[in-house]
This record gives sequence, structure tokens and C-alpha cells, in this order.
Amino acid sequence: MGCYGEQVLPRIVNVACGMKTVEPLRQRVCEGLAGEVVEIGFGSGLNVPFYPAGVTRVAAVEPADVGWKLADKRLRAASVPVQRSGLDGQSLPFPDDTYDCALSTWTLCTIPDVATALGEVRRVLKPGGTFHFVEHGLAPDEQVRRWQHRLEPVQKRVFGGCHLTRPIADLLRSAGFTITELDVFYEDGTPKVMGANSLGIALSP
Ligand SMILES: C[S@@+](CC[C@H](N)C(=O)[O-])C[C@H]1O[C@@H](n2cnc3c(N)ncnc32)[C@H](O)[C@@H]1O
Repeated sequence: MGCYGEQVLPRIVNVACGMKTVEPLRQRVCEGLAGEVVEIGFGSGLNVPFYPAGVTRVAAVEPADVGWKLADKRLRAASVPVQRSGLDGQSLPFPDDTYDCALSTWTLCTIPDVATALGEVRRVLKPGGTFHFVEHGLAPDEQVRRWQHRLEPVQKRVFGGCHLTRPIADLLRSAGFTITELDVFYEDGTPKVMGANSLGIALSP
């Protein structure tokens, strides 16, 4: 990865993902997290203030060193111990059946081999563990989907491999999860091509 991907992009993500308007979604997706949690695509720790009191420890998986540095202030204010524990969601350095919950917010769009990453999340979750997610992806409407397919090559180049057309719920089901809660909606104030969100909880068998 060059200077743009390593230095500039994590700062752009920190600002773009750090908008106040997104905080209610972070609050919602973190509700019910408890026990030992693995968060993939930790970024600059924007979910840290929303971890509920029932969380005992968080293992953060994040490749960008700059993202981790930008998380510093939030980490110092955290009421839960958070450790940078891995660099790649596609290859999690944890034994099977380790975590009670997993968390991913706007990350499944970017991980190159998303099916492998979801397989890894399933592997490290205990049986019956829950995967909390809010992700943008393939829109429910055909007209928006057409634009997503057109714009995806540009999006991938500018935003470090971010896909617009990943079918989030289908990917979760294909990885063997059972979706127990799902809300699909367009995010206010975001162009529909980028703001088709899926927020929910998936159960690991
Ligand atoms: C759009 S950002 C979202 C960051 C954060 N989850 C949030 O909500 O603010 C996507 C994140 O995925 C991370 N990422 C990219 N490839 C990854 C991989 N293979 N494994 C884990 N995280 C990855 C990026 O570095 C970035 O921090």
C-alpha cells in the first residue's frame, strides 16, 4: 500500500465515518454486545464510546497503523480493555470458539476476500455467539443497483478497495450464519449508492 492508502485514507475514513449523524447507528449496532468481543476493521476506534457495560474485553483487528494512532484518545477514555490483536480479518490469530460476540461496522465492503473473513469470524465465535453488523452494500432498488455497478470501479480506487455491491445478508447466510435481526435502509444524508445499509445481528451455529 502506498502513502495514500497508509497515511491519507485512514484520516479520511476517520472524518467521514466520524460524523455525528452516524452515532445513532453505532449505538444501535453495539446494543447487546457482551463478554469477550472481536471487532474487525476497528479503524480509529469510533465504536469504542458505544461498547455497552457488559463487554469485558475487545480484541481489535485493524491493518492501518494510522487508524490505531487516531484511536488513542478514545482508547484512553474507554471503560473496557481494548487490545490491537490482529491485522487482517481474513486470517484471525485466535483459536476456535473464543469470542461471545463479533462486531463489524462498514468494513465488509473493504476486506478483499469477504467470504474468508466471515468464515474466520464464524470460526472464532463460540457456538451461539452473535455477529453485530452495520454495513453498506447492494441496494434494494434496481435503479440504484445499476449506478452502484457503474460507480464501483471508481469507488474501489478512491476508497482503498471499498465495494458498493456486496450483498451483505446473502454473504452472511452463505457463511453459515442465521440472521436474527435485519434492518435494510438508506442512510440519511448519504447518496443512495453508498448509503444502502444493512444493520443487524447474525447468530453463529
Ligand atoms: C470504512 S472503514 C470503517 C472503520 C470502522 N469500522 C468504523 O466504523 O469507523 C473500513 C476499515 O476496514 C479496515 N480493513 C481493510 N482491510 C481489512 C482487513 N483485511 N481486515 C480487517 N480490516 C480491514 C480498514 O483499514 C478500515 O479501517
